[in-house]
Amino acid sequence: MRRLFEGCSRSIDFTPPNRQLFPSDYANRIMELTAFPINEKVPGLVNILKDHHSATLIHSFETTLVALKLAKQYDVDAASIRTIFLGALFHDIGKIGVRKDLLDRKRKLTEEERQELYSHGLVGSLIMRDIGLEEISCFCREHHIGNTRNYNHPKDLSKRHPLTEFITLADLITATLDSRRPYNKHAHDVKRLSKEEIIKRGRKLIEKKKKAGVFSQQLVKVLYNLIDSNDIFPPPYKSKDDFDDSDFQSLIDHFGLRDIFNAIDFSEGLPQN
Ligand SMILES: [Fe+2]
Ligand SMILES: [Fe+2]
Repeated sequence: MRRLFEGCSRSIDFTPPNRQLFPSDYANRIMELTAFPINEKVPGLVNILKDHHSATLIHSFETTLVALKLAKQYDVDAASIRTIFLGALFHDIGKIGVRKDLLDRKRKLTEEERQELYSHGLVGSLIMRDIGLEEISCFCREHHIGNTRNYNHPKDLSKRHPLTEFITLADLITATLDSRRPYNKHAHDVKRLSKEEIIKRGRKLIEKKKKAGVFSQQLVKVLYNLIDSNDIFPPPYKSKDDFDDSDFQSLIDHFGLRDIFNAIDFSEGLPQN
């Protein structure tokens, strides 16, 4: 078993964008959750995200399960599995601070809108800190490193939490290659291409990022084994709005993660830095 948890890095400097950071619509609900134990904070935050933008919640569930699938094959320890679960589930929680029309955009963004959208990493880390889950706040900030042009700073790659790359890779698989995202510039291609062609394109993109140091050789090998022997891609959904817990349960079974999911233990606190 590999134990990878080393505590969140606080050394990466993110400059806050020029906008109100905390989403006031949800501030009271978030602050109310602060006093609750972690097993109540998790569904509370999931509900807030669902109320704001259910498509982001579906994406978060899928990212979580893809990240757990990678972690299971990588043979990480139970504490790291739980950290990946929470980090992936809330990696985009900061999107509750981004306007819905911006999240659903179909057009090219202005520079100011782009800044607002990408502020969700910083906003998410503030939410995690304020709600008492600071130990996983780094994943909100770090999941874009190497994956978007806003956070493509090579010097930051080595400072990432060792588990961030699981979430970044899962995010790439469930977002970049997902035709349901209205702003995905590859969406048309993803709909048109065969599964084999999508995988070929995905491999090309992942190889490029591996070369840039975003993903390790070892993790990419795990992914390729999963692609060759299984289906690492989430199933298509007809509607974004009627997604509920039973859909999440089906997703767990789709990924064959029932055992690992049931074993996640929330009875103890998170590892401290
Ligand atoms: Fe994100
Ligand atoms: Fe994401």
